[in-house]
Amino acid sequence: MPAPTVEQLEAEIAQLQEQIRQAQKLTALGELASTVTHEFNNVLMTIVNYAKLGLRQRDQAARNKAFEKILAAGNRAAKITNGVLGFARNRAPGYEPTDLARVIDDTMLLLERELTKYRVKVDCYVQPTPPAMANGNQIQQVLMNLMINARQAMPNGGRITLRLSHDAESGTVDLLVRDNGSGIPPDKLPHIFDSFFTTKSGPDASGKGGTGLGLSMCRNVIEAHHGKIRVESSVGKGTAFTLKLPAIKNAPTPVIDLATATAATSAFASPTERA
Ligand SMILES: Nc1ncnc2c1ncn2[C@@H]1O[C@H](COP(=O)(O)OP(=O)(O)OP(=O)(O)O)[C@@H](O)[C@H]1O
Ligand SMILES: [Mg+2]
Repeated sequence: MPAPTVEQLEAEIAQLQEQIRQAQKLTALGELASTVTHEFNNVLMTIVNYAKLGLRQRDQAARNKAFEKILAAGNRAAKITNGVLGFARNRAPGYEPTDLARVIDDTMLLLERELTKYRVKVDCYVQPTPPAMANGNQIQQVLMNLMINARQAMPNGGRITLRLSHDAESGTVDLLVRDNGSGIPPDKLPHIFDSFFTTKSGPDASGKGGTGLGLSMCRNVIEAHHGKIRVESSVGKGTAFTLKLPAIKNAPTPVIDLATATAATSAFASPTERA
């Protein structure tokens, strides 16, 4: 048999990387299942309790109030299922103009409960940016990985800062994910993007992690986007990852949707209230 050509080997590597990405996504989905089930249970309890209340009440205003609560709970449940389905689905395989603020919202929706449970607050600063040339589904997977890593680096709770901004000079849309967790020792830092490099002894209490594939998948995805992923870390202070993705040139910068931006932030403003 003739030896494979460089092109054949490259195609094979690309195919294997895609398989790793798919496997990683399935793992993430499996892990989300328990979060989503809990979330649904809460929503159902709300619906059942307000339905009972509404049935007991004779007063029309009180009944209307109960209906409103039931409607809000139902809408929340629908948003969560849509979020999970969106993540599970392979949207368009290629790259298209993508609003990264949307990707942040979608990711927060899926991780909200878990972050609340671990007393992790999220400060989200979304500046007006042009769309990025990206695959929203893959970037969501990257962001989920970075946020779960951040959460795992703060076992006693802490703070994640998300910042979306436009770097006009480099023509990129930049997404910063910073935590105030354990940080990464300088001797480990050069290895964190290697496949199977992990310092975690196994899955954590939420059944997450420890394979060492998260960051290697992130790097593959970002490089395929012709973007950059950078890390800065300081032991005891925390870690910051920055994604730089190519911005669409000459795209009008949208007027920021304050409603979405604040909703995303306030969802995390008082985690204890929502726990
Ligand atoms: N935000 C962070 N703070 C501290 N250490 C981090 C952070 N992100 C990554 N690391 C370090 O980099 C290693 C590799 O991360 P990576 O996401 O690739 O694998 P993992 O989280 O160990 O396992 P997996 O993501 O496959 O479940 C981690 O084990 C951890 O030591
Ligand atoms: Mg990880």
